[in-house]
Amino acid sequence: MFRIFIDGKGYSAVEGQTIIQVADAKKNDLDKGTYAMHHIKTLGVQVEIPRFCYHESLSVAGNCRMCLVEYGMPKVDPVTKKYVLDEKGDPVIQWMPKLTTACSTKVIDEMRVKTHVTSPLVKDAQRGILEFILINHPLDCPTCDQAGECPLQQITYKYGPESSRFEFEKVHKPKREKWGSKIVFDAERCINCTRCVRFFDEYTGTHDLEIVQRGWNNYPSPASGKSLDENPYSMNVIDLCPVGALTSADYRFKSRVWEMSGTETISLNNGKCSNITMWVRDNLVMRFTPRFNPLVNGHFIADEDRLNYKWINENRASAPKLRNVNQFVERTWEEAICEAATILKSYSPSEIFFLGSTMSSLETMYALKKLAEKLGVLNIDYATYRNNLFDNKLISSDATPNRLGAELVDLSSNRVVSVFSLSEDIQKGKIKCVLAVEDDLLNILNYEVLERLESYIVLPHHNLKSNQMAKVVLPAATFAEMVGSFINVDGVIQLTRPAKVLKFQNRELMWELVSSRLDIHGTKFDKWVREENLIDAKPAWEILCGMLTALSKEKSFNSARDIFEKICAEIPDLSHLNYKKIGGKIVLIVTIVVGLLITVAYTVLAERWIAAAIQRRIGPNRVGWHGVLQPFADLLKLLFKENIKPKEANKFYHTIAPMISLVAAFSSIAVIPFSSSILIADVPVGVLFVLAVTSVGVYGITLSGWASGSTYSSLGGLRSSAQMVSYEIAMGLAVVSVVVISGSMSMHDIVKHQTTNPLHWNIVQNFFGFVIFLISAFAETNRAPFDLPEAEQELKDPKPKLVEKQKQKVPCHVAIIMDGNGRWAKKQNLPRLAGHYQGVKIVRDVVETAIELGISYLTLFAFSTENWKRPKEEVFGIMNLTIDVVKRETEDLVKNGVRILIIGDINTLPSDTKQALTECVEKTKLNTRLMLVLALNYGSRWEITQAVKTIIKGIHEEKWTLEDIDETMIQNNLSTKNIPDPDLLIRTGGGFRVSNFLLWQIAYTELIVLDVLWPDFNRTCFNEAIREFQQRERRYGMISEQLEYPEN
Ligand code: SF4
Ligand code: FES
Repeated sequence: MFRIFIDGKGYSAVEGQTIIQVADAKKNDLDKGTYAMHHIKTLGVQVEIPRFCYHESLSVAGNCRMCLVEYGMPKVDPVTKKYVLDEKGDPVIQWMPKLTTACSTKVIDEMRVKTHVTSPLVKDAQRGILEFILINHPLDCPTCDQAGECPLQQITYKYGPESSRFEFEKVHKPKREKWGSKIVFDAERCINCTRCVRFFDEYTGTHDLEIVQRGWNNYPSPASGKSLDENPYSMNVIDLCPVGALTSADYRFKSRVWEMSGTETISLNNGKCSNITMWVRDNLVMRFTPRFNPLVNGHFIADEDRLNYKWINENRASAPKLRNVNQFVERTWEEAICEAATILKSYSPSEIFFLGSTMSSLETMYALKKLAEKLGVLNIDYATYRNNLFDNKLISSDATPNRLGAELVDLSSNRVVSVFSLSEDIQKGKIKCVLAVEDDLLNILNYEVLERLESYIVLPHHNLKSNQMAKVVLPAATFAEMVGSFINVDGVIQLTRPAKVLKFQNRELMWELVSSRLDIHGTKFDKWVREENLIDAKPAWEILCGMLTALSKEKSFNSARDIFEKICAEIPDLSHLNYKKIGGKIVLIVTIVVGLLITVAYTVLAERWIAAAIQRRIGPNRVGWHGVLQPFADLLKLLFKENIKPKEANKFYHTIAPMISLVAAFSSIAVIPFSSSILIADVPVGVLFVLAVTSVGVYGITLSGWASGSTYSSLGGLRSSAQMVSYEIAMGLAVVSVVVISGSMSMHDIVKHQTTNPLHWNIVQNFFGFVIFLISAFAETNRAPFDLPEAEQELKDPKPKLVEKQKQKVPCHVAIIMDGNGRWAKKQNLPRLAGHYQGVKIVRDVVETAIELGISYLTLFAFSTENWKRPKEEVFGIMNLTIDVVKRETEDLVKNGVRILIIGDINTLPSDTKQALTECVEKTKLNTRLMLVLALNYGSRWEITQAVKTIIKGIHEEKWTLEDIDETMIQNNLSTKNIPDPDLLIRTGGGFRVSNFLLWQIAYTELIVLDVLWPDFNRTCFNEAIREFQQRERRYGMISEQLEYPEN
């Protein structure tokens, strides 16, 4: 095994591989044994290297030079034979002087490769190559049939120059040359990559093409005497051609690629069942193109596979009909199916013959067999159809796609009458009634014999001549309109997926259609609008199950998935399979996870609303119906919020603890059935799995508490875990009763048990268990998963530890200079006023934190007397903002016990601002929990001046004398007269100034300057400041010992 480095990243490689093969390895190294081939192309490549001439299934030509890369090898010391290392200890690389082609250069151990991602040289070369290639290529993308799916177009957009310097006449070559009836060639578009030539040389070995002419005039052309019409694989060169030089005569100019939806399915043209993409526009199939599946057809398909689609669109039987004398009357599906069942019941089993088909899916065959068993019919058989022209590539001698399937379900094992003796037995009167499913009876017997039948029931795709003799016509869906499984001649089982919609879709088909079409989000081009393109048909299995139900009055199968599960349970060879293994599991998982996340988010929201209503608090209801967007806000918060790691926390466990809880929660999704058919993994002990996996979340919570490094948080974690465990016990007991009633531990069986009869629903049978489960499940999942990281972070917040241990050191009065709004706005390229808006939001958090910490006074320096010098618009904006905030928050302030006091000269504020403030002060005046002092139009010098004036006035009025003046008198004449001096002054914005703020009051105040702009100030910053304050020793001019022993 080699190791090579591409763009600095290491990849393992095998000796003999080329660089491009290693770059593509992710795609090539698929587990070839898996059946999940449905989404192969979504797997992508390890490193993208653009190419034109290289193709995985052809030899290397190395002629387009598009895959150029730089490569080098570590330098080896000739003496020590060891790598020479640079000062960082990395090997010194000797780069080759010229670029090389990744498609033809074999890897060497420890090779270093630079692609366009890291090498400007490669980027430049690729631009040059594209400019060169495009010199003679016509710029006819708008009219080219390949536009939208053309590698040259895409690669040019991605890697090419934005313009051309070629201003001369381009070289003209043959245009619209017909290479037989299947391919049209435009030589001007050809870039001579020779993929088409190599295909005929290597894949078919027929050497049908050769390059003619020389120099810039050369192009591929059919070799003399060769006709591409004779080659059954020739149309593959259309897909191989990277530039639209080769187009399909059949599809040319019928549709643009962006007008169609593509569905990954299989072709039923013959026993090989090659993989195709079915392209549909306006509910009509427009074309088939090959789809890569190494297990079946590789990259190619036979031309007959590609062209065999028109029958899906044309002459389709539509709407169920009953024959009344000589004319047909349309009936509802129920009526027609009941009539068919009544006819069948009116004959003895030996008088009935069932004609199955190897064109049918396994599910249809199985349903037919079950119907035969119900009626006791033994005569059931199918015709075989063979290809005269077949090969050992992709055209099998078996002309039908599911002969092995028919053998596997034992469709014809007990028959007395076979397809070969049917004609004779009808003529002898032994067989009086025939049910034909997806086959034409006239392929087996002639019309005269058919006329002798008493009753003929048919499930056709088309309006056939034989339909005229039928008593009941029940149109069947084709493979383009249904999901079904087929086993090809090599024993590979694959699914067809619906690409077209039927007039009346069953729920399974709607689900399958959503998960199979490439445009799962819908395109505006394909709206299924034309009524005439909608066929009124049903999948044959559904019609047969309808008859079964009509005969037994019991519901049989709900979906093709249900039938397939039953088949797998009965046939040992298929026991390891289900639909999800055959295809589409990724889509299923993604859909379930997204659906579940949205459901959980809204359940959490509903729970918050209910809790808020019960507790009579406004809470999350404040936002009204706009709150339905809250889960998305939560998601954004979860993704983008600041990741705070407390200093004491163990970083590793701090990070993985929430992951443990989340992974456990998500793992449980795997076994939960979202319907009888939507289930990721059917585990026999699914119930135990859910209980075991969800209880792992407990360890995540405990670990997160411990990882915080705080005793309080560790105890909090343990308390939460204990609470969760107590819910688990209740849930476990409720689930045990469900298991006892259903008789199974499989979640799937439990759901299935309930689908048989509404009285079996656990909510009915086990009502108390349901209530207990619901309450405990709600309690346990409360706030997870969206709020989990937040809860976990709160749990680890070191704040409670400080407050708890040093309660006596919580400052009584904190003053804050809120500086930095303008700078914050400038940094965000926003107007200054936006900074003030953001700053106001922070105030709410700070007030809440102050309450939580037990601070009694909080003074905020909101607007200084100097601030009037700011631009008028800003001042005007601040005043309006003040009015808004005060009006909005007053109600909450009253509720939360916050009293507002304004210091500063509010008489000179605009009248509406003053009025709003006065009202707020009045409304909150009885509150005692926190006094929020707002310094508005405040300046400390102004305040001291006012105090001096009042004192002197008192002397003049002989209220006191000069000797009476002391600090207390001055204090009592300040606007903060009944408020203790601040213990702590915090200033944000990094400036070491007090800015004319509380100059008298802060004489003994501790100062903390934070290098954080006010809008970025948060609870953690506040807590950190308090913590720092608590670590300081306030001596007020004394010594430490005096503080410790006050009596000294
Ligand atoms: S026709 Fe297409 S595939 Fe053939 S050589 Fe030209 S570009 Fe290549
Ligand atoms: S892809 Fe390598 S030279 Fe063409």
